[in-house]
Amino acid sequence: MRILCTGGAGFIGSHTCVELMAAGHDVIVVDNYVNSQPEALKRVEELAGRALKSYECDCADREAMNRVFDENEIDAVIHFAGLKAVGESVQQPLRYYRNNLDATLTLVEVMAAHGCKRIVFSSSATVYGVPDEVPLREDMFCKGCTNPYGWTKYMIEKILQDVHTADPEWSVVLLRYFNPIGAHESGRIGENPNGIPNNLMPYITRVAAGQLKQLSVFGSDYDTPDGTGVRDYIHVVDLARGHVDACAWAAANKGCEIINLGTGVGYSVLELVKAFERVNGIKVPYVIAPRRPGDVAACYADPAKAERVLGWRTEKTLDDMCRDAWRYQCQNPNGYNA
Ligand code: WQD
Repeated sequence: MRILCTGGAGFIGSHTCVELMAAGHDVIVVDNYVNSQPEALKRVEELAGRALKSYECDCADREAMNRVFDENEIDAVIHFAGLKAVGESVQQPLRYYRNNLDATLTLVEVMAAHGCKRIVFSSSATVYGVPDEVPLREDMFCKGCTNPYGWTKYMIEKILQDVHTADPEWSVVLLRYFNPIGAHESGRIGENPNGIPNNLMPYITRVAAGQLKQLSVFGSDYDTPDGTGVRDYIHVVDLARGHVDACAWAAANKGCEIINLGTGVGYSVLELVKAFERVNGIKVPYVIAPRRPGDVAACYADPAKAERVLGWRTEKTLDDMCRDAWRYQCQNPNGYNA
């Protein structure tokens, strides 16, 4: 198939482009590079051994998006593009609602106008809000999000569900990611946050590399085995392969499915730190710090539906995630900047 990846130069997007091309699909990328770099796409082409097509534009730019669809016969869209920093969204709610919702509404209107009715959406476990119980299942009621970023994901899920309800010819897959970490085994692409990382693994790798002094562990008094936060870490390549399977489902089915992409296993902050130190033979100095506002104690998936509906399950281990994340850091101490 010919698949458009919005935000395809990002962390998840670039890894997904590699897996799509390995599966024989042709890829077109739209990215405004607000939180990514064109270099990522050069490396995707290097890994795929062939070219992809890319457009530097914003999904909210209707004229540009019409040109993309006029110039390419697009069979399906994977919609990654969006602002995604939880803390930043609390500080800048209007920017998040305007950016993430405008981009989606324009994209879907242009898709419909061109008869393209297959979409896979990059949603997030954050839509579950503060869970009453774990593991999290797709049929659980979402009580409410804890930040504007999460609300944009929740609202976009509703928009796409309503689009399908109004026109059952649509194929919609809403993928709820848990905590993607790691990197392609080549070390050529990986997580490349601008500035000081918000997320745990890129922070760990920069401490291990001596670029940051120490890790602050946000809270050790949660109701978890060792008191630190528990999350469902999933290797970014496993996550990427889930998108390939979601596109296959959309090509063969009409309908709207919400699907968790997680391992079903939760690890604490300290368990991840210890695994990273063991696998890579390096110390990660840390201090216990106060809880981070908005964090939940534990969050991990029930992954059964992904296997039932998509035939997908994770294959990589926590050790693989730690090893691959460290390899990317070592090979790219300045990210994609030379
Ligand atoms: C993981 C654990 C922290 C940093 C968020 C979004 C989610 C997705 C992934 C975008 C928690 C602890 C972290 C640090 C720490 N984002 N931690 N010290 O918050 O589970 O998920 O990022 O798609 O939608 O909600 O991920 O990596 O920030 O935190 O102790 O310096 O690590 O308290 O327990 P999170 P995270």
